[in-house]
Amino acid sequence: MAIYGAAVGSGHYLKEIMNSLSSVHFHDQSVALDDHGNEILSGLMARPRSLSPKFFYDEKGSELFTEITRQPEYYLTRVETSLLRKHVDEISELIGDDFILIEYGSGSSEKIRILLDSLRPAIYAPLDISGEYLAQAAQALGQEFPWLEVHATCVDFTGEFELPFNSQKRRVSFFPGSSIGNFERHESQAFLTRIRHLVGETGGLLLGVDMKKDITVLNDAYNDERGVTAAFNLNILAHLNREYGADFDVESFRHEAVYNEQKGCIQMFLVSEKHQKVSLDGQIIEFQAEERIHTENSHKYTVSEVEAMARKAGFGKIKTWRDDDGLFGVFYLFN
Ligand code: AVJ
Repeated sequence: MAIYGAAVGSGHYLKEIMNSLSSVHFHDQSVALDDHGNEILSGLMARPRSLSPKFFYDEKGSELFTEITRQPEYYLTRVETSLLRKHVDEISELIGDDFILIEYGSGSSEKIRILLDSLRPAIYAPLDISGEYLAQAAQALGQEFPWLEVHATCVDFTGEFELPFNSQKRRVSFFPGSSIGNFERHESQAFLTRIRHLVGETGGLLLGVDMKKDITVLNDAYNDERGVTAAFNLNILAHLNREYGADFDVESFRHEAVYNEQKGCIQMFLVSEKHQKVSLDGQIIEFQAEERIHTENSHKYTVSEVEAMARKAGFGKIKTWRDDDGLFGVFYLFN
């Protein structure tokens, strides 16, 4: 794998992937730990207290998320995967050929494997904030699909960034898993508009969205019996301890996830089970017993909400695929 960029704050994994494929390129656009440190601190000191869900995804967090996707209650990945399998031919037909495929938050690059043989993009460009996980996933993918050119970029795609290659080919974006649900509604709108600009008149966006549904089904999906979602949520504190020198007593916080009907989203929190002080970066943060840190929103949409958002972003055409129970939607937005 060819490696580009400053590799700020990433480090050791780069050595392990030196003797590797020439079809796989790794670009590091990750920001310095310091910048994130400030963001973390101001979130923790604000009221209500919050942490961005992007901090879930250190290597351990990425592993735990993959484990969540295998839990029986977490239907999202299963249903989306089966939709992609079922409609892969139709999806390929709509997308066409000779294009660059850009995936936002590619994680283990599991879903793209379903589409690659049929889509045959000229370049696959996965973007993810978790550098080590991304580098390994890109490498494995390159081995599995020797014909594929991979340009993996470690980047926080919620901010501004540049694509790491020059190519005039058509662009198609892939944003699966209902990761769009992490954004506030107005942010989703802005994000779709940004993607519309990126892909232009000739490109498109293949988007996975979790649909509004029975509240019990939603609450169960974020409160799995085995406690994997709880471990994933709590790992954000362990991540801050490992990488940012915090001293959270992880054991004295508990996972909470509940559907907020008014906002149409699952909200996740970490609840301090006692009065306690935590230090981070020379600052002391005091938690009252039962005080919460908000860690994630997962917004749910109806088909007409997605359609309205897509139109407003400038996509004139929308193709929708849903499962029989209407749990999940895959949409191709184009012009
Ligand atoms: C990766 C953001 C789509 O919101 O369902 C899973 C993350 N959080 N369980 C989601 C998550 C708790 C997931 N997304």
